[in-house]
Amino acid sequence: MGARFPREVLFTSGGTESNNTAIHAAILSRPEQKHTVTSLVEHSSVLTYCRFLEKHR
Ligand SMILES: Cc1ncc(COP(=O)(O)O)c(C=O)c1O
Repeated sequence: MGARFPREVLFTSGGTESNNTAIHAAILSRPEQKHTVTSLVEHSSVLTYCRFLEKHR
């Protein structure tokens, strides 16, 4: 998992929320990056959020 401190551990309601939180955190951490790359083998929750970002980011 790679957490160094307890405050870096976040419990979520499930896989979809975890995926969305991780993608969102990655985007917030690198605001200068304008593209998010994914692949069609990702879970639909990842693809749905990436398609949302494509339209709304
Ligand atoms: C990789 C992955 N992401 C997301 C989900 C969706 O999880 P949830 O139904 O808890 O939102 C699953 C469910 O199997 C999964 O395997």
